Amino acid sequence: MIERMLQVPTIAELRRHVGEARRQGKRIGFVPTMGYLHDGHLSLVKKARETCDFVVMSIFVNPLQFGPNEDFERYPRDIERDRELARSAGVDLLFTPSVEEMYPHQVLTTVSVAQVSEPLCGQSRPGHFDGVATVVLKLFHIVQPDAAFFGQKDAQQLAVISQMVEDLSVPVEIVPCPIVREPDGLAMSSRNVYLNPEERRQATVLYRSLKQAEAWLKEGVPLDEIKERMAAMITAEPLAEIDYVEVLTYPRLTPVDTASPGQRLIFALAVRFGRTRLIDNMMVTV
Ligand code: PAF
Repeated sequence: MIERMLQVPTIAELRRHVGEARRQGKRIGFVPTMGYLHDGHLSLVKKARETCDFVVMSIFVNPLQFGPNEDFERYPRDIERDRELARSAGVDLLFTPSVEEMYPHQVLTTVSVAQVSEPLCGQSRPGHFDGVATVVLKLFHIVQPDAAFFGQKDAQQLAVISQMVEDLSVPVEIVPCPIVREPDGLAMSSRNVYLNPEERRQATVLYRSLKQAEAWLKEGVPLDEIKERMAAMITAEPLAEIDYVEVLTYPRLTPVDTASPGQRLIFALAVRFGRTRLIDNMMVTV
């Protein structure tokens, strides 16, 4: 296990260390995060270590991607714990910029990926994906990685970033990594910490409904009927409040009425338990 991990808070230092690694011929892997690390993040580091010689992780809670009434202020943060987890997972360089370092002046440039940003979370979190695309492109310019690793739990984010990279010819390979789940199926998320024990218990319905959707699809149940059955299953949990339950094509996220063979679909959902909004999804090839 690699013991030495550097932590740098400035863009200039980050560039110096990554430049040095690149001069040594190392392949640079990048894992962007907002911290409060869990096994999902650590699986991205593991994947990065498999194919890269130098792994950079960023921890930056990006204000641009939070709406005015969202949880930017209370988003969980624990840099001491994160540093230890990152170090033992094999991160070489941890980038922990402040908001002032990333955005010293008012930001006048926004990256906006049309269409793919619009459905699902784009409806309930207006501007969210512009904030994500803008910070991720900025981080790509800062780190200039050969490959960047993203979890499929944020499937729409992954689609937005992949589209941006393709449209703007950003020289980075985007590597999607599978969702990591708790033993009872709940997808790992930094926001799970907000759930009280009863909400946490009921939140397992997300994964259960996705598994059912997969089974119903195999049985030939029509997509609309599957969505209705999923919604009924979820609302049977008294604390669950549905934001959306959708099935769309992936990665373009266009509406679909009838599944056709070979098509790649995503069942996606966002559900609130109290003040906590959770997302989850399952991709299937028909
Ligand atoms: O997935 C996240 O943690 C964030 O959206 C990301 C990609 C680090 C951008 O802030």
